[in-house]
Amino acid sequence: IKITFQDAASGARTVEVEPNGTVMEAAVLNNVAGIVAECGGGCSCATCHVHVDEQWIDRLPAPAPEEGDLVEFLDGAGPTSRLSCQLELTPQLDGLVVRTPHAQG
Ligand code: FES
Repeated sequence: IKITFQDAASGARTVEVEPNGTVMEAAVLNNVAGIVAECGGGCSCATCHVHVDEQWIDRLPAPAPEEGDLVEFLDGAGPTSRLSCQLELTPQLDGLVVRTPHAQG
């Protein structure tokens, strides 16, 4: 499946990955700028924060309480903010578009 990471500095990058693992893992495997993922997917560092494209936000499962709490206190978070390590890839997410924050980590 294809996922597009938009970055204000370096433009958009589309990566092709198997529909398993998480959006964060897809980014790290492909060296996508802006996803640091310091905690390795433990839902505790919030350096994997992304802004999900408005057209996609309703198609994702709602955040777990731990994720919601972290995002709430994150600098620069917006209404479509999610932690990419909590977004499981499925075939339905083919074409997903997310934007990485300007500075992270
Ligand atoms: Fe640390 Fe997602 S990788 S919260």
